[in-house]
Amino acid sequence: MPSYVITGAARGIGFEFVRQLSVQPDNVVFGLVRNKSTATKLLELADGSSNVHVLQADIADAQALKEAATEVAKITDGTLDCLINNAAFLEMERRHLTLDAYPEEFLAKDLRDSFEVNVIGVIQTVNAFLPLIRKGTMKKVLALSSAQGDLDAALNVGIAIAGPYSVSKAALNMVVVKYAVRFRDEGIVFLSISPGLVNTQQGPPPPAVQAEMVALKDRLEKFYPDWNGKPLEPEESVRMQLEVLEKATIEESGAFVSQHGNKYWM
Ligand SMILES: NC(=O)c1ccc[n+]([C@@H]2O[C@H](COP(=O)([O-])OP(=O)(O)OC[C@H]3O[C@@H](n4cnc5c(N)ncnc54)[C@H](OP(=O)(O)O)[C@@H]3O)[C@@H](O)[C@H]2O)c1
Repeated sequence: MPSYVITGAARGIGFEFVRQLSVQPDNVVFGLVRNKSTATKLLELADGSSNVHVLQADIADAQALKEAATEVAKITDGTLDCLINNAAFLEMERRHLTLDAYPEEFLAKDLRDSFEVNVIGVIQTVNAFLPLIRKGTMKKVLALSSAQGDLDAALNVGIAIAGPYSVSKAALNMVVVKYAVRFRDEGIVFLSISPGLVNTQQGPPPPAVQAEMVALKDRLEKFYPDWNGKPLEPEESVRMQLEVLEKATIEESGAFVSQHGNKYWM
């Protein structure tokens, strides 16, 4: 019975991971959310499925993560096959700003918040679930990164905005490398993956953000002339990511790839 834990499972890409994985009746799927009371869609899915469990933990809270791991262990006999670190912090109001244009009162805050969730939160999650992963069969750990954390893409496309988020995702890629090196001998595969540009927006962004997003889209279209200019739906992105995850071997552990399994980010 392959088992999966997915963080940030209340909505967006995380919810879609739970949905697709739970279609296989043999899988046991744990959706981890920071607030059960607002995770309506996931609770409905769990109500209608025998193989979906909902757990609550803020990934910035190491103790809550340990308790979640204990809950999983009770159901899986102490094992876990695959951990999908999907939860992330993205500041929505200031993501169009360049680092030099940041209001001073928010610069350190947004950097800290991004680091707390996207870097420290992932490390805490991995550490909490590692004892279970070590006893699992599949032994895979995925971290949802972003092309914005790819140094070459940022330089070559010309992306100066979303500094705190991008810096945290670049750091996350290094976190994955550190774990990959540490656990290569034990056969645990760690992978950073960018899901592509995926339509998970909950509402229209503020006008200033919208204008910068249009400018970014223009740059992306120039850099990737064969891109159709449309974001992926979560369904397609997750389907592609699961194919990459399934194929990933220990030789690739530590890599940072796109939903295509390579460095093509769109
Ligand atoms: N969408 C894209 O185009 C895109 C592109 C590149 C990379 N990514 C990456 O893909 C992943 C999923 O993206 P998405 O668009 O689906 O994101 P999203 O819609 O913003 O969802 C993020 C999820 O993370 C959860 N979360 C945030 N902080 C948390 C915390 N401290 N503890 C636990 N959960 C927390 C949120 O919980 P609440 O529901 O409680 O807020 C939410 O469920 C992220 O890692 C993101 O950086 C996305």
